[in-house]
Amino acid sequence: MNDSWPETATPPALETNVGDVWLSSLDLPPGAFEECSSYLSADEKERAARFRFEEHRKHYAASRGLLRKLLAGYLNTKPENFAFSYNRYGKPLLDHLYPELSFNVSHSYGWALFGFTMGTELGVDIEKERPDFATMEIAERFFAPDEVDVLRSLPADLRASAFFHCWTRKEAFIKAHGMGLSMGLNKFAVAFAPDVPPALLRFELEPNAAKRWSICDLEVPQGYKGALAMKAAPIHVRRMRPAIRRESP
Ligand SMILES: CC(C)(COP(=O)(O)OP(=O)(O)OC[C@H]1O[C@@H](n2cnc3c(N)ncnc32)[C@H](O)[C@@H]1OP(=O)(O)O)[C@@H](O)C(=O)NCCC(=O)NCCS
Repeated sequence: MNDSWPETATPPALETNVGDVWLSSLDLPPGAFEECSSYLSADEKERAARFRFEEHRKHYAASRGLLRKLLAGYLNTKPENFAFSYNRYGKPLLDHLYPELSFNVSHSYGWALFGFTMGTELGVDIEKERPDFATMEIAERFFAPDEVDVLRSLPADLRASAFFHCWTRKEAFIKAHGMGLSMGLNKFAVAFAPDVPPALLRFELEPNAAKRWSICDLEVPQGYKGALAMKAAPIHVRRMRPAIRRESP
């Protein structure tokens, strides 16, 4: 898996129609964790302190610290310099400072994806595959009726994997829009059956959306699924892994 995510010390220049995606473990060695934690703003430190479990606190600090470090690399500034704003659904943004930049973060059970592009919207999602969660009941609650029909038509042994493909592709699309669940999970559908390439099939709120959006899978660690959604077609995806320091700062 490391081969498809080459370790990269400095982010390349962002390009139009190119999605840069970084994969990282959030269980950082002590030196890297200290470094990441030191970048957090006062409100982020407060938020970290509110997590009940140390593991969650550490993962949040690692994720925010890595986000800041990657942004600083792209924007040639210091990681502690960013004051995020948030849209009404909680999506962190820097649109007041860098209107062309889009970024999005996802984390699940110790792994994180960070997506960056310019000039268009992008969303990422990583999920740990929990077979007990991948039920038809949950699908009926969160998927569009046409997606539920596809899932139901699959042999039982293929359903859990297909479920998480559908979930991550849908979630990446929702996250690109930034409106959370208020966007309406029925209003759009993604392709996710085995042997069918990932794609947006329909989106009621945007004419020709299926032609304008790209969805692709990301090769995340075994037991997880990952997806990227970007409003551009075609897109090129550059996969990278942040260079993590092992010694103390
Ligand atoms: C808010 C939401 C993005 C949470 O998603 P999630 O899967 O729980 O979490 P992820 O790890 O993928 O994403 C969280 C990160 O996305 C970013 N984020 C927060 N709100 C966001 C929003 N409205 N849109 C996009 N990104 C958002 C943040 O950076 C956040 O990380 P942080 O809290 O450490 O800063 C939203 O899509 C949601 O509520 N999802 C619920 C899950 C669901 O029902 N999905 C249905 C799929 S079919």
